[in-house]
Amino acid sequence: MSSVPLTVRPGAPLSGSFRPPGDKSITHRAVLLALLARGRSEIRGANHGEDCAHTLACARALGLGLAGGGPDAAPAAPLTLEGRGERLDEPRAILDCGNSGTALRLLAGIVAARPFLSILAGDASLSRRPVDRVIEPLRQMGATLHARHGDRLPPLVVRGATLRPIRYALPIASAQVATCVLLAGLGARGETQVELPGPARDHTERMLAAAGVALERHDLPSGGRRVTLGGPAEPRPLSLAVPGDISAAAFFLAAAAASPGARVTALGVSLNPTRTGLLEVLAEMGAGIEIAGRTCEGGEERGDVTVSGPDRLAAFDIPATWVPRLIDEIPAWMIAASAAAGRSSFSGAAELRHKESDRIATLARGLARLGISARERPDGLDIEGGRARGGRIEAEGDHRIAMAFATLATRAAGPVEIDDAASIATSYPDFAATLAALGGAVEQTGSPAAR
Ligand code: S3P
Repeated sequence: MSSVPLTVRPGAPLSGSFRPPGDKSITHRAVLLALLARGRSEIRGANHGEDCAHTLACARALGLGLAGGGPDAAPAAPLTLEGRGERLDEPRAILDCGNSGTALRLLAGIVAARPFLSILAGDASLSRRPVDRVIEPLRQMGATLHARHGDRLPPLVVRGATLRPIRYALPIASAQVATCVLLAGLGARGETQVELPGPARDHTERMLAAAGVALERHDLPSGGRRVTLGGPAEPRPLSLAVPGDISAAAFFLAAAAASPGARVTALGVSLNPTRTGLLEVLAEMGAGIEIAGRTCEGGEERGDVTVSGPDRLAAFDIPATWVPRLIDEIPAWMIAASAAAGRSSFSGAAELRHKESDRIATLARGLARLGISARERPDGLDIEGGRARGGRIEAEGDHRIAMAFATLATRAAGPVEIDDAASIATSYPDFAATLAALGGAVEQTGSPAAR
């Protein structure tokens, strides 16, 4: 893989409107439910980054038909998919999940319920991310699984079986694990139940309901929930417009909050309440937040979000209970925190150490490079706001770290060079073009598509 440096110079505050890529979490789920449905599904506005392309390729290896859209079509072309229902093909090669933990963990639930052997693997970053969290419940359901490093790390080998349903209390509130068990539960005879100990994104439940699968959801005082479905159950084919990804839009929205006079609108962005924590945090810090054109389709709300930068952004400590609703937006939050007057922080987010990089450490190291004082804690970070200087950032193969520092650069005192921006293509291939369209001074010496 060749590296793709990206340099962003400071400039005027960002302004204008943009349409973010389709939501990545929703696209993964839509492709996989389309596989499990019998017949033709249509997905409009799918995320066309590499992560979802890996999910599509894996689903195709399991028998999904592609009648329109996909890797050889224009990114805006709808995905037209021919699903297989219960009977899938045994994959002839390793299922390559690339950089995507969501792809690997969700696919594990599907193949565990099928009478064949599958091997799930990915790149160097994914090979460092835990899979014991899905091995445990899938073994309880009757599948046989093995993984590297004492059954902790990918590759993951799955010998599928006729599964039994389980009641599973997750040790951590992971939407990926809950989804893995629910997808496995679709193939088990009887009632499968997952209990999440705290809040987590709920796209799976919304999409299963939209696909006609009966499930019960019971919200718990902890902010968690219990979800029950009866198997065997087959989702109906989907016709779905994927909302824009708030996790992609977040960089530009946070940069707008951090620059007095900036005003940026993200069009058609997901407003699922399990994902909008960053907007509440930016509002607490004093940014202007306006939401217009709210609609709901396929159980998922969306709308146009405008953020404007106040004269002075106030520091804010994010309560631990809020963190799950902005877990993927912490790199974007860093842009605002580093511009605020005083010390901002978050805590209760040790899970961030198991993302595409150890995000607490990569953020702290990057901030230090730019002369912003940050104190790392086991489950959080304190950031002392100030004026970032220019410098070189090591993104460590993490797309959100690369995008966060590239966007912060618009308000730094000198140019910021991202050593390798190739990973940005995993979720947001048009990121640099959008940053430039909003007024960012971007120089890219290679194309992410070229890696
Ligand atoms: C995701 C769930 C979250 C999130 C990840 C996407 C999903 O991870 O951080 O980027 O699509 O289900 P966990 O389930 O590990 O919390």
